[in-house]
Amino acid sequence: MSLLNLADFRRAAAERLPSMAFDYYASGARDEITLRENREAYDRIKLRYRVLRDISGCSLSTPLLAHELALPVLVAPTAFHRLACDEGERATARAAGAVGTVLILSTLSTTAMEDVVEAAAGPVWFQLYVYRDRAATADLVKRAEAAGCAAIVLTVDAQVWGVRERDVRNQFALPEGVGLPNLTADAGRVGQVEAGSGLAAYVTRMFDPALSWDDVDWLRGLTRLPVLIKGVVHPDDGRLAAESGAAGVIVSNHGGRQLDTSPATIDALPGVLEGVRAAGAEPAAFPVLVDGGIRRGTDVVKALALGADAVCVGRPVLWGLAVDGEAGATRVLALLGEEVRNAMQLCGVTSVEALRSEGPGLLFRPPT
Ligand code: GLV
Repeated sequence: MSLLNLADFRRAAAERLPSMAFDYYASGARDEITLRENREAYDRIKLRYRVLRDISGCSLSTPLLAHELALPVLVAPTAFHRLACDEGERATARAAGAVGTVLILSTLSTTAMEDVVEAAAGPVWFQLYVYRDRAATADLVKRAEAAGCAAIVLTVDAQVWGVRERDVRNQFALPEGVGLPNLTADAGRVGQVEAGSGLAAYVTRMFDPALSWDDVDWLRGLTRLPVLIKGVVHPDDGRLAAESGAAGVIVSNHGGRQLDTSPATIDALPGVLEGVRAAGAEPAAFPVLVDGGIRRGTDVVKALALGADAVCVGRPVLWGLAVDGEAGATRVLALLGEEVRNAMQLCGVTSVEALRSEGPGLLFRPPT
């Protein structure tokens, strides 16, 4: 039976991957309430579609910063792709390019950023974790720019690690031969610890918990690339992001992996947009993206109707990689694109611009 949707890919990946790897990708923090909410919040929103409009043509083309994406879906940064397939992040970069979108490459990539950009068939943005060692952090940024990355995505919700209890139980560690080649020897090792998750121990040792809004200026001073801020759910942080000189913001709770019981990102999106608007940012000039829980084309349509410029998907791409490497990841993204097109046409809109200007009028929340 062929794989018809992203949930089918999840099941197939669960059968193929060792449980330590599958759990690492799948897990959320603590009771995984936010992990579930991210998904379930989409199901509570209904689409109040329009009819008798000419829907014979439909374009998913999406302008975003300097790019014209073929669909309003980017590949979210996720760590350790070589746990899913040998080709790792190279395969992901080719898949993203094949469907016409951006790969946001994690600092915690298991392939060196230069090799990923070289293999890529489309734009690559670099996701940055800020290390206590600021010189090493600056080096990552400069290497990303020199390698040809087109933007920096600063993750701001993970300077202290959320506890993923599945990783603690599994005593998560990277297998022999899989490391973090973006970093030098010691900083590139996520090894076994006596008890608990080796990754949590790594983050505690390495990431800088003193990171603050002032550092956005420091980061912008290191590079000519646009800097986006990822990991915002509070309206005031939306405002601060727009005032910080950043080029955009990603509404994200880190896939439910950091603070458990934080709100679903689709529920947080309107507030962050309000904050961004309060800072006077022009909608088109300051993109607002959202990630977390997107598994269907209808989810993408809901996010765009609520005002997102585009969305990012993480775990489904990893499931695609686990099932069939580059081809699997490409299929996941293509499937999602096909679902977006179908949902847009059934809503009576034939362009991303039309969908966004239709706005929340397309959405229906039953009275509670
Ligand atoms: C990495 O960013 C993770 O959430 O594990």
